[in-house]
Amino acid sequence: MEVVRRRSGSGCLSMVVAIMCAFVVVMVPGALATRWTVGGNMGWNTNVNYTVWAQDKHFYNGDWLFFVYDRNQMNVLEVNKTDYESCNSDNFLHNWTTGAGRDVVPLNVTRNYYIISGKGFCYGGMKLAIHVENLPPPPSSTPLDEKSSSPTLTSRGMIVLPMVLAIGAVWDAFFWYW
Ligand SMILES: *[C@@H]1O[C@H](CO)[C@@H](O)[C@H](O)[C@H]1NC(C)=O
Ligand SMILES: *[C@@H]1O[C@H](CO)[C@@H](O)[C@H](O)[C@H]1NC(C)=O
Ligand SMILES: *[C@@H]1O[C@H](CO)[C@@H](O)[C@H](O)[C@H]1NC(C)=O
Ligand SMILES: *[C@@H]1O[C@H](CO)[C@@H](O)[C@H](O)[C@H]1NC(C)=O
Repeated sequence: MEVVRRRSGSGCLSMVVAIMCAFVVVMVPGALATRWTVGGNMGWNTNVNYTVWAQDKHFYNGDWLFFVYDRNQMNVLEVNKTDYESCNSDNFLHNWTTGAGRDVVPLNVTRNYYIISGKGFCYGGMKLAIHVENLPPPPSSTPLDEKSSSPTLTSRGMIVLPMVLAIGAVWDAFFWYW
């Protein structure tokens, strides 16, 4: 009797550990995604140098850019390098403008992105060039200052909570079976 009980206990325990591992593997890539509010508190606006804004940041595949601006004035157009440099919005590659003045651009390809505002604002500096990188293999090697400079942590916060609940459930299961 005693032996049977122990065996089933350790069987359940190893299952719990496997579930725990599965959670960690699933959660870690999502936990690193960042939604960048372009320009920080200034948003997508005149009087911001977006080269300076972007220069200390790392953009990874899976992140998003979030453009907050006056929908009656500016817009969000993806262009190629030549048109970024010359502020030409006639041949835009993608119109990310939805009309709400709140536009999200998914950075889902590892490449350079060139985004400008049309309507003349590009000439005043409303132009953003970024390089999107693949995620670095060990997540713990990501420098902390980069995370603290990330303006919105909603995506991270939303993933941490289920993880905490999952770990809590695992602990309950652990004590119940033991
Ligand atoms: C950007 O597009 C314009 C117009 O289609 C083209 O003339 C130019 O060569 C392109 N530049 C690059 C870097 O692809
Ligand atoms: C981009 O799309 C928005 C929403 O559909 C539209 O109002 C706007 O005119 C478009 N801009 C350009 C430059 O095509
Ligand atoms: C990236 O996102 C855009 C817009 O949602 C989508 O059209 C495109 O298919 C996506 N590309 C990849 C490689 O997932
Ligand atoms: C932004 O700052 C960079 C580096 O200081 C400078 O080279 C660039 O000309 C500035 N861009 C604008 C639009 O002022």
